[in-house]
Amino acid sequence: MNLEGCRILLTGASGGLGSAIAESLAARGARLALAGRRRDALDTVARRLRSMPAQAHIIEGDITDAAQRREMVESARAQLGGIDVLINNAGALEFTLFAEQDPATIERIVQTNLLGPMLLTREVLPHLLVQGEGRVVNIGSTFGTIGFACFTSYSASKFGLRGFSEALRRELDGSGVGVTYVAPRAARTAINNGTVMAMAREVKMNMDPPEVVAQAVVRALQQDRDEAYVGFPESFFARLNALLPRLVDRALRGQNAVMRRYAQS
Ligand SMILES: NC(=O)c1ccc[n+]([C@@H]2O[C@H](COP(=O)([O-])OP(=O)(O)OC[C@H]3O[C@@H](n4cnc5c(N)ncnc54)[C@H](OP(=O)(O)O)[C@@H]3O)[C@@H](O)[C@H]2O)c1
Repeated sequence: MNLEGCRILLTGASGGLGSAIAESLAARGARLALAGRRRDALDTVARRLRSMPAQAHIIEGDITDAAQRREMVESARAQLGGIDVLINNAGALEFTLFAEQDPATIERIVQTNLLGPMLLTREVLPHLLVQGEGRVVNIGSTFGTIGFACFTSYSASKFGLRGFSEALRRELDGSGVGVTYVAPRAARTAINNGTVMAMAREVKMNMDPPEVVAQAVVRALQQDRDEAYVGFPESFFARLNALLPRLVDRALRGQNAVMRRYAQS
């Protein structure tokens, strides 16, 4: 896909990965509708893009709310003159023991990471199908292929997002509309709080700067990729987990104990 002039609705544009993705896409001539709940953070990103100069519109909205999702899509279509690409990037995470996690938080994580993206895609898809071209990009995670202790709700939601991406891609085969699933490994953004960062240091978890993930998203779009896993050896372990999950169980046993210790602290 050629990104020059491409009209993109990006959720989570106010966050660490979202703002880096927005900047990388804008540098290649894309026109962006930046969605998120925090107006001030969106303003900062939009100002940076406009100074490049690039076209950037702001759409305030919560992807867990049906009326706001509809408004997000209508507003993006009106401001950009249509939508070529939807990037479902907004996400939420809590690092904790599942037995102690507030049920309302479990719901919020699944709503934000799975149901919100599915229903937003449902809003955009009819327009893409009428155009006969376009793409939906879902930002998953390594944790959407390898279930990680103490990220249980998060892992479940990202496994769901990966399944949604694969099934929809097969359903849309031949329609001109593609689906891309991008699975970053851990990255340095605000979604990982101090406890996660300390735990990640102790277990020597690889952490990418947001720009690395942004480059992977750009490449995946330019090459019309079905999926992109960011980072080695995580991409290898994702495949290994599908083939030999008991082996990965054993490999993670030591790390699980450390994660439980941090999650309890
Ligand atoms: N950082 C990592 O280690 C990592 C690794 C793999 C995958 N990912 C995935 O990458 C994506 C971006 O995460 P990040 O690292 O950039 O985290 P972040 O800096 O915390 O950004 C999260 C973004 O999601 C938005 N968001 C959250 N709940 C929302 C809601 N209900 N409605 C609308 N927007 C909402 C936030 O915007 P507002 O607060 O303004 O609404 C923010 O822009 C997520 O899907 C995450 O799961 C991250």
